[in-house]
Amino acid sequence: MAEDLKALADRAVADIAAAADDAALEAARVRYLGRKDGVLSEATKRVAQLPAADKPAYGAAVNEAKRRIEGALEERRAALRASAIERELGQEREDLTLPPRRVRVGRLHPISQTTRDISRIFASLGFETVEGPEIEWDYYNFEALNIPTGHPAREKWQTLWISNPLGDDPSRPLLGRTHTSPMQIRVMEQRKPPIRVVIPGRCYRYEATDAIRESIFFQYEGLAIDEKLTMSDLKGVLYAFARQIFGGERKIRFRVDYFPFTEPSAEIAFDCFACEGRDPQCRVCGGEGWIEAAGCGMVHPDVLRRVGYDPARYQGFAFGGGIERIAMLRSGAPDIRLFYQNDLRFLEQF
Ligand code: DAH
Repeated sequence: MAEDLKALADRAVADIAAAADDAALEAARVRYLGRKDGVLSEATKRVAQLPAADKPAYGAAVNEAKRRIEGALEERRAALRASAIERELGQEREDLTLPPRRVRVGRLHPISQTTRDISRIFASLGFETVEGPEIEWDYYNFEALNIPTGHPAREKWQTLWISNPLGDDPSRPLLGRTHTSPMQIRVMEQRKPPIRVVIPGRCYRYEATDAIRESIFFQYEGLAIDEKLTMSDLKGVLYAFARQIFGGERKIRFRVDYFPFTEPSAEIAFDCFACEGRDPQCRVCGGEGWIEAAGCGMVHPDVLRRVGYDPARYQGFAFGGGIERIAMLRSGAPDIRLFYQNDLRFLEQF
């Protein structure tokens, strides 16, 4: 009987080794090991009819046959898999005539592009780019710029106040800076004249948005301090900047304004790119024909004194404006909010 089982296993192993593909292999498995009519199951059932003395030897022979058949199946399965892989690899060919897949290269956000252009142009005029904190002390954002608590100018610069993590000292309130002007003070505190810096950066205002206003936006600030600077230096620098950033065509309006930290102060506006002053309902300029782009002026003597500069010896000028407005003026983008909606159809145009 045990001899029969050995012959059976020999036959099964040979059959399995000859299986040409997965289907043949599966058929062989079912034929020999199949639970219902498998040859080995039939043999196993016969154990019951054997005399007790023969049972152990027969059982061992069944197990041995089963082990050999399973081994043969596993071996053949692996061999079939290996030759399938080899066949596939053998058929693969690089098609060197295919056009390459297009690589989609990213680009800088239009506001980053504009910021870099601003820095580059001011660098050509001798200004170094520096950056400063977006979360600022009340002192730098207001006090040091001649805007003490209760000053009506604070109304114009409402912001988000932040509870002071350094012990909640209410006499040292923190805020999202409403402009980049606080960096004028920080730079003057850290350096000695002559100073020529431009400071781009993010600002915050508690304000409803519209086509030209956002509550989080970017400004650039400029500061020049030296011994013989005048208003004509200010005007010359800003006109040179405007011509470089917009080309020659954009009209510039320079007129008197008020800021607590400059005296005298002025405002720069550009003629409206959307309507060129022709549409009284224009969404961009509100029918004014002009878009305010920057404030500027001669640094107030009290501001100079506060950082320990002698106003009799040093004067300087400062300016600050919105970066999105420049990007809008240059590109004709009709709404500031487009810059922050992350819509590639818009952003890819830059
Ligand atoms: N910081 C002002 C604002 O946000 C703009 C400004 C006005 C900046 C006059 C200046 C300046 O440097 O001299 O409205």
